[in-house]
Amino acid sequence: MNQFRIREKFIPYNLPNLTDQEVNAVIDTLKSSWIAKGPRTVKFEQQFAQFVGAKHAIATNSGTAALHLALLSKGIGSGDEVITTPNTFASTANTIIHVGAKPVFADIDYRTGCIDPSEIEKKITPRTKAIVPVHYSGQVCDLDQIYEIADKYSLFVSEDAAHALGSYYKGKTIGNHTKGTASYSFYATKNLTTGEGGMLVTDDDEIDAKARIWAGQGMSQNAWNRYSKDGKWQYDICEPGFKYNMFDIQAALGLVQLSRMNKMQAKRKKIAEKYQNEFSRIDAVEPPYIPDYTIHSWHLYIIRIVPELLTINRDRFIIELNKRNIGTSVHFIPVTSMSYYQKRYGFKKEDFPNTEKNYERIISLPLYPSLSDEETDYIIDAVRNIVEEYHK
Ligand SMILES: Cc1ncc(COP(=O)(O)O)c(C=O)c1O
Repeated sequence: MNQFRIREKFIPYNLPNLTDQEVNAVIDTLKSSWIAKGPRTVKFEQQFAQFVGAKHAIATNSGTAALHLALLSKGIGSGDEVITTPNTFASTANTIIHVGAKPVFADIDYRTGCIDPSEIEKKITPRTKAIVPVHYSGQVCDLDQIYEIADKYSLFVSEDAAHALGSYYKGKTIGNHTKGTASYSFYATKNLTTGEGGMLVTDDDEIDAKARIWAGQGMSQNAWNRYSKDGKWQYDICEPGFKYNMFDIQAALGLVQLSRMNKMQAKRKKIAEKYQNEFSRIDAVEPPYIPDYTIHSWHLYIIRIVPELLTINRDRFIIELNKRNIGTSVHFIPVTSMSYYQKRYGFKKEDFPNTEKNYERIISLPLYPSLSDEETDYIIDAVRNIVEEYHK
């Protein structure tokens, strides 16, 4: 067995990548006195739309808000069904309930962790109005198959792209002239962060116009600048809207992060490639599978343990990593196993066999631009050490 020495300093699971540029941009915004939604938010929307290749981008105060706006703007509501994946964060499904619709879950393709298009088709009923696929971990869904089903049954597609900034499907960025919408998250752990924040992108003029109204308290016109010299004080409320807009302190961060995005992505890629290379040589762990059509954003690096070859389960594996001073996470505890969803809809584990099998095996390892070579090597050695210690 290899000699393994536990390091003294804990490696956190995630760290945001912030430089003096971000700090100065926030200070400049504070000094400018325009701290609510204003010119920086508008500029961030324009630059983000350009970055992903979308006609419109609507900046929001969370990824959850962007997902909610997508469904609201398409008029999805009471009596409708929306198909999504159990292998996601709660907000993907919660927002379906927020518009009054019923979330219907389709199991994942075990290889990718993303929703399985053939399972989607099995769940379609006359009430189905939309599909919310999740580009899980930065892996991308098979969009051609999903949009083919959507066209066949006249369904709207709201892509949950919370993990997918930096991902490509068949050479195109996610959100690039999509036929539906894509919703991004800029939460602190994401590849681009504004602390909290999100963005809805679409090429559809009507969705854009409606989403802006829903995001701004239902005001009839873009009223963010009503306090400027040329602003108009009159407005109407034409929907019972939400307070979902981003503000300029967040956008100041976002603009700098966007300008540094390619550099940050290159670092993630380098670390992920090392992980892929090393973990593919350890029999009791599986590195992520990457289909030909995917360029992964490497938002999350998720290994699966192979319990058949180990004397410990996933939970114990996490404890062993923690003992070796490595922070981890699990993406995701299936939404369908959460108490609210179980009580309201009566889901059972057996309903989603691939999601449950995936859940029992997954561990998200640290992956962020400031993770050093030494830390990356240490994490690989620690995984190898645990496997050697607990191999059957
Ligand atoms: C798959 C997925 N969708 C949506 C969200 C919601 O994003 P936010 O936290 O910005 O509301 C998250 C958050 O982590 C997520 O992981």
